[in-house]
Amino acid sequence: MLTTKYLGLALGAALLAAPFAASAQEAPAGFNQCKACHVIGKNGVGPNLAGVFGRKSGTVDGFKYSDAMKAGPTWDEANLTKYLTDPKGTVPGNKMVFAGIKKPEDLAAVVAYLKVVK
Ligand code: HEC
Repeated sequence: MLTTKYLGLALGAALLAAPFAASAQEAPAGFNQCKACHVIGKNGVGPNLAGVFGRKSGTVDGFKYSDAMKAGPTWDEANLTKYLTDPKGTVPGNKMVFAGIKKPEDLAAVVAYLKVVK
């Protein structure tokens, strides 16, 4: 009994220490602020973000983008980081109503997530 309990504790601690190792597809806490509009796998208020990394902006089928977003950048690491820091300043006139990610650690985790989410 005791052994099982301690094994559980040790496993829990190991998972806490390595949040990115758990699953590449698991959304980080920072992505909670995106979920109202972005559902992975389908369009909602915002476009489907599955496979967004490396994609030209404004190109998901069936989503009605602003002209600004259609003329936006290709989503590499630098452009995603800039856009998610300051959506309005980076793609002026785009219609995503979001002020930007405030915490640097959330920003890094969300960009890392967008790189792998399919
Ligand atoms: C209030 C709703 C809303 C929130 C919150 C929101 N978005 Fe968006 N997002 C949108 C809309 C709408 C668009 C399309 C903008 C346009 O066409 O001008 C968009 C576009 C994008 C794009 C460009 C996608 C493409 O296909 O070119 C990315 C990347 C993105 N959002 C990421 C995020 C992330 C990451 C978060 C959270 C940190 C977030 N968004 C929060 C509504 C939202």
